[in-house]
Amino acid sequence: MDIIRQNLGENSYQILVDEDIIPKAGSLAREYLPNTRQAFVLTNTTVGPLYGQKLVDSLEKAGIQTFIYQMPDGEDHKNFAVLNEVYDALLEAKIERQGSLWALGGGVVGDLGGFAAATYLRGIAFVQVPTSLLAQVDSSVGGKVAVNHPKGKNLIGAFYQPSLVLADLAALNTLPEREWQVGLAEIVKYGVLAGGEIWQLLVNHLPLIKAKDPDVIRKLVVQSIKIKADVVEKDERESGLRMILNLGHTIGHGLEAATGYKVFRHGEAVAIGLVGVARLAARLGRFSQESCQQITSILARLGLPVAVPQSVQRNNLAQEILGHLSRDKKVQKGEVRFVLPVEIGKVEVGTVPQKLLEEIVRELCGEAGK
Ligand SMILES: NC(=O)c1ccc[n+]([C@@H]2O[C@H](COP(=O)([O-])OP(=O)(O)OC[C@H]3O[C@@H](n4cnc5c(N)ncnc54)[C@H](O)[C@@H]3O)[C@@H](O)[C@H]2O)c1
Ligand SMILES: [Zn+2]
Repeated sequence: MDIIRQNLGENSYQILVDEDIIPKAGSLAREYLPNTRQAFVLTNTTVGPLYGQKLVDSLEKAGIQTFIYQMPDGEDHKNFAVLNEVYDALLEAKIERQGSLWALGGGVVGDLGGFAAATYLRGIAFVQVPTSLLAQVDSSVGGKVAVNHPKGKNLIGAFYQPSLVLADLAALNTLPEREWQVGLAEIVKYGVLAGGEIWQLLVNHLPLIKAKDPDVIRKLVVQSIKIKADVVEKDERESGLRMILNLGHTIGHGLEAATGYKVFRHGEAVAIGLVGVARLAARLGRFSQESCQQITSILARLGLPVAVPQSVQRNNLAQEILGHLSRDKKVQKGEVRFVLPVEIGKVEVGTVPQKLLEEIVRELCGEAGK
């Protein structure tokens, strides 16, 4: 088992990564959450039938009174209506202050479950059991929890750290191919951010990664969590440094918004966004052309898009993305701030000339020279 400690003073917790960790949840709960007598497992209609019973059995065997609740699957359900149903179910189950909420699923279940745990009875213990690659390497670590508002994604939320994270590598075996790619895009992001071992794995072991070699996947997951936990440790509430985790996300979010969140999975938009910032930095003479090529080639070989596919191209897409960028949260004094790679393993935050930004976004949208 790999154990990563997220050091955050009294909010510190452990992230445990292993194959078949779900069946050990009960004994781990005894060890890490000795006071918990009740567990409320929140999952969804896809993950619940696969792993719900295993988690419930393990917790009950450890003498913990356990309830399970399945929410519908999908980002569309990360909303107030479902949150209210979860509160109702928590009350119905008579979960008390000493109880715990276990989020078994991808980032949607984790984000909504975390917000429910943060607010129910002013906060009960929260355990993340991430089952998607994205949730294991990204959303289950760092304590950002939220639901969507009709006006935007993740607008209603909190910082609420879990008490424990159990990442079961065996659960990834049932993950659909496209969800693997979404997670891999974030892993490439960590590779560019941190360089070192994770980057070497991406450069040297792509065939093993594509074949989902268990040893290589474990290393990628553990390295990614370490990188994220390290950044979160230095800046828990995103007052500065934590922003670097948004590498590739500014253009990515613009693209997701301009396509109504219907065309690209988040990681696919991030892949295109990563190519965008690498090109921006390269054109500014701050990043090598070779590294820019290398990032593009790794993403492409992983099956991720590195530009807007022809079938999605349309008039004014670039203009709409640029419009979203200028309304983005990260705009300061009218200029969009970007996380830019300067070498593999090193990024800087800064603004870029508007004309260059427009040029690159047009290129990504297949509108160059039009
Ligand atoms: N809190 C954060 O810091 C943070 C960071 C990144 C993303 N997020 C949020 O995470 C969400 C995206 O997370 P996601 O990509 O995991 O999406 P998701 O939760 O929708 O999961 C993707 C799909 O995979 C299915 N799935 C999950 N695990 C499975 C398994 N083991 N076997 C079979 N199917 C499985 C899910 O049911 C779903 O259909 C977004 O809402 C995003 O805002 C939060
Ligand atoms: Zn992301």
